[in-house]
Order: sequence, then structure tokens, then C-alpha cells
Amino acid sequence: MIKKGIATQWNKNVNLNKTNAMSKKVIQIIADEYKKLTDLSKDDQQLVLMAREISGKAYAPYSNFSVGAAVLLVNGEIIKGNNQENADFTDGLCAERVALFYAHSIHPNVAVDTIAVSAKNLNGLIPGPALPCGSCRQVLIESESRFNHQIKIILDGAEKIFVIDGADNLLPFAFKPDSLG
Ligand code: THU
Repeated sequence: MIKKGIATQWNKNVNLNKTNAMSKKVIQIIADEYKKLTDLSKDDQQLVLMAREISGKAYAPYSNFSVGAAVLLVNGEIIKGNNQENADFTDGLCAERVALFYAHSIHPNVAVDTIAVSAKNLNGLIPGPALPCGSCRQVLIESESRFNHQIKIILDGAEKIFVIDGADNLLPFAFKPDSLG
């Protein structure tokens, strides 16, 4: 495991090639990397196993890339989802958004504590980490903003597992509610 992280922040110490007209901003992104599932906490291991299990029920006949997401809500409930593809490729939806939208649709007032994401291809579990696409990162950001609650994000893999505290560490410079002005 690498050093425990803090949320993304401006690094005030780095100011390379600064001119009078420009100051360079540097964003720090932090992920804790694990080599094997058993190094995670028991609760996190369980959530990852649920993500793996639900990835096996994905509808992914076009990509053969089956993704599962298990969402632990702060009330202790766990909601699972997987990717749903379509012959019209652009109409499919990722596992993370299936799970998050379903969780928020039945529990509109309950924040997400943790999400675990797992993916397998025709060779089995991918080496990892299972990285969320840009749209899913944006949806994670919205969930955090909506409930003012940071989400722990566990990205599974056979060789590498990332544990990330907060979606800012996946999507810097994100478009957030306050970006609307
Ligand atoms: N996919 C996900 O379910 N989550 C992601 O974050 C990345 C991609 C799905 C979409 C599609 O069904 C398949 O993986 C290949 O892109």
C-alpha cells in the first residue's frame, strides 16, 4: 500500500516557470494501490466480491467486457449493477451508472459510502485496476455533491487494486454544481 491519501488539492509548493502573468497550478491525485484483495479490509473485500459476482450477470455480448459495480450506501444497504449493452452501441450503459442511478432512485436521500468496480474480459478478471469511464466519473462527482459526502472508490483487478478517497482523485477540474455559476 502506498501512503494514505488526502483529497485532491492545489499544491502551493510547486510553481515552476512562473511568470508575472501566469502561475502554474499542480493537482495531486492520490490512489492507494494494493496487490491482492486480501490486503483490503474485510468489508471492502466483501464489496469487491459482490462487484465480481454481479459482473458475471452483465449483458455485454458486443464488447465481451463484463463490468460489475457494488454500491454500499451509508444506511448499510448494498445495491449492485452491471453494464447493459445494446446493438445500437451508444445506447448501452456502464455498470457504475446502472448501480448508482438505481441506488439513488430507490434511496433519494441516502449518500453513497463506497463503490467497488470489477471487470472481466474473455480471459477472466482483468489485471486492473478497473477504471471508470469519464461519464461514470462525472456521475460519481454528482453523487458526492448531491449528498455532500465523499465516496470511497475501489477499483478491482487481479494484479492491482486501487482504493481512492473521493471522485476528485478520478476527475480533476470536474464540472460541479457550482460550475454553473
Ligand atoms: N464499461 C463499464 O461498464 N464501466 C466503465 O466505466 C467502462 C466501460 C462498459 C461499457 C461497455 O459495455 C463495456 O464496458 C466496454 O466499454
